Amino acid sequence: MESIVRHLSESLFFQRLGSDELLALAHCGSRFVAPAGAEIIRRGEEGDALFLVLDGGVKVTIPEGQAEEFVVARLGKGSIFGELSLLDSGPRSATVTTVVETTLFMIRRNDFHRLLLRHQGLLAWLLAGLSRRVRESTMARHQDEVSRRLAEAQREIDRHRAVSSMVAGIAHELNAPLGACLTAASMVSGWLAASDDPADEQQPDWRGEVVEATSLLIENISRCCSLVRSFSEIAALQQGEAKTRVDLREMIDGVIGGFSDDRRLGLKEVAVRVDAAEGAWRGCRSQMEQVLTQLLANIDAHAYAPDGGDGRAEIVVSDHRWRGGPALRFEVRDFGAGIAPDTLLRVCDPFFTTGRERGHKGLGLTIASHAVTGALGGTLALESTPGQGTTATLVVPLA
Ligand SMILES: Nc1ncnc2c1ncn2[C@@H]1O[C@H](COP(=O)(O)OP(=O)(O)OP(=O)(O)O)[C@@H](O)[C@H]1O
Ligand SMILES: [Mg+2]
Repeated sequence: MESIVRHLSESLFFQRLGSDELLALAHCGSRFVAPAGAEIIRRGEEGDALFLVLDGGVKVTIPEGQAEEFVVARLGKGSIFGELSLLDSGPRSATVTTVVETTLFMIRRNDFHRLLLRHQGLLAWLLAGLSRRVRESTMARHQDEVSRRLAEAQREIDRHRAVSSMVAGIAHELNAPLGACLTAASMVSGWLAASDDPADEQQPDWRGEVVEATSLLIENISRCCSLVRSFSEIAALQQGEAKTRVDLREMIDGVIGGFSDDRRLGLKEVAVRVDAAEGAWRGCRSQMEQVLTQLLANIDAHAYAPDGGDGRAEIVVSDHRWRGGPALRFEVRDFGAGIAPDTLLRVCDPFFTTGRERGHKGLGLTIASHAVTGALGGTLALESTPGQGTTATLVVPLA
């Protein structure tokens, strides 16, 4: 009995009680040993007892999904749990399970109430203890709310930054081709004006130059059109799309089919393995197709030289767990040139490209990462070793 009184007096919750009250409490409860993994209280069940950990330890969990649990706290020697049930028999808010063999001291509500009649001081103590708990949890909630709002504000600032750097990039990208168009058009207009001048006897042969200027016009207008198309793709990605059930194999084959042989540069062969048990996924199909298309387009354009290398790529889909829920992991891998570490840091920046002279705009991975973090609600990470290849890992929730 003495050791229980000592344990009770060492526990923060019981600390302020006098020795008479501690002794009375020690007499009113019972001590027992639970093996590791024993469920002491279950969430949702009616509570009728408070527990003090005398030795060992327990975890407090809230179930998440079917197989997962969220560990709210781990409690060791001297901790108490279930104290609210000394007042009422409301449902337990969490499940408590022993993590090792644990010695517990249990006080049942009815026994405690009988004790209250004899030791009035216990009532004041209980109220003080419970209001301290309420205050602590209110503070914790308040702090959670403050951190949540801060994180939200930070996300909003990041979003504004991303939008303004995108707008600056768009202006910069459109400026050069539009400038070239203006120069070419002014030259053509100048020649046409000169050719109309009857006083000008010596008409220069401007035909060849007009052909050159108009092809410059066509090239630069096409570049502007293609840039504008990419911008609208990015805007469309923000709109979202209804989720549908998608057969993974069929979707991936469709994406690969989009790379017809005559369009391909370095990509020759894509091996597909769908290890995911269900073989299907529920999500925004066209956004996922867009991501896979961009990743394959990059392998085609950047991983292998058009006339060299074996042009091998691999797509492996497997079951995964992410944020406590079932997820899918897509690994899109090549065995080509790879990306240097300092370049790798920038590949998802809008307009970053190492292929500008080949007509690339540097928007593929921007589009892909917008889709992944937006409608697909997942993550995209790139790993690469120069000379050995690149792996893009995409993780999305299963439904
Ligand atoms: N699989 C890869 N192998 C080697 N380099 C890659 C690979 N994927 C991406 N990169 C590098 O990342 C850069 C950015 O890719 P991103 O798709 O954003 O733009 P891009 O392909 O250059 O242009 P766009 O997609 O607009 O045609 C590429 O220019 C290239 O340097
Ligand atoms: Mg690309």
